[in-house]
Amino acid sequence: MSAPPVIDTLARDAARRLFGAGPETEAPARIAAVEALAGGTGASTGALRLYRLEGGDGFVEKHTSSALEYALARAQLADTAAGLSRCPVMLRFLAAAPDPAGGYRLFMERLEGIGDNNGWLWGAEVALAEAAETFSQAIAGMRQRHGLALRPAPDVFGRLARALAGSESGKEDQIGGRLAALQAALAGYPSRPAHNDLFWPNIGRAPGSGGLVFLDFALVGDNQPGADFHHFAKGLKKSAQHRAFFLALTARAADLAGIPAGIIRAGACMSAAARALTRETRRGRPEAGQHQARRFIDLAEAALQGDGPGEKKNGERGA
Ligand SMILES: Nc1ncnc2c1ncn2[C@@H]1O[C@H](COP(=O)(O)OP(=O)(O)OP(=O)(O)O)[C@@H](O)[C@H]1O
Ligand SMILES: [Mg+2]
Repeated sequence: MSAPPVIDTLARDAARRLFGAGPETEAPARIAAVEALAGGTGASTGALRLYRLEGGDGFVEKHTSSALEYALARAQLADTAAGLSRCPVMLRFLAAAPDPAGGYRLFMERLEGIGDNNGWLWGAEVALAEAAETFSQAIAGMRQRHGLALRPAPDVFGRLARALAGSESGKEDQIGGRLAALQAALAGYPSRPAHNDLFWPNIGRAPGSGGLVFLDFALVGDNQPGADFHHFAKGLKKSAQHRAFFLALTARAADLAGIPAGIIRAGACMSAAARALTRETRRGRPEAGQHQARRFIDLAEAALQGDGPGEKKNGERGA
């Protein structure tokens, strides 16, 4: 379905920037078509548009209500203007401005291969761990340079303790004590910037270089080490292939962060537990959320003990 073409100054600026051209250049401003782009299921996303340029290139406009995503776009554009090299793992923004009608208009490069987990992400465990580490460090730098207010780390343990203490089997399995023990085990590892929504629909490939690139920054914020892999922790319950992916991903992430793999895996599982609770409660199924959260808590405990098949003991390195 085609949206009516909206080609204004901002869109033309984005087209010029895509080609690294000056404002007087005419050629890159030739936008052949504007189409609605599938996607945009997130709470903060309005419209997504693809601008097709003559010659086959294109770029994307996202309308968002996320002030954080806008702030990150502005920070990246300011860094580029100041001559700093862009973090290769962060989607390249071309232009960004508040929309007088509300929210923000973000223009960005068009990525390839988004959501294509079967096509290419298998085998990319190491690349993904490295990309997540690079991204975290880049966001830390941007926060420092631009005074960005990132989301604080969520109170995962408090949330789980409150929700599970009252649940049916809360007393039998002494969930409070188990959560306290997990919290104590993770306490020595400080929060750091995380993408927080890292999974197939938010990971693409850069045009040309083919490197992994993250998009969708509405949830960027501090989180416990490993939290960024919460979507992949679901793989522990899916198949041997998914499980192996998670173990290799987190082994490399642990090496990069210089902390035990068990801590990274437990962090991912605890984050997955809290997210499952939130998601299922929002869907009106709090009991399903509690059930899923308990399974992730079991997996977090197993990860800390390093007793899962194919896992290394806490403190050991490597896949
Ligand atoms: N730059 C891009 N290049 C190619 N496809 C894109 C691009 N930006 C978005 N898309 C497509 O649109 C989908 C949704 O975009 P995005 O992830 O930014 O929004 P969302 O999931 O609705 O997010 P939010 O949580 O920010 O509200 C992506 O999964 C992808 O399929
Ligand atoms: Mg998304």
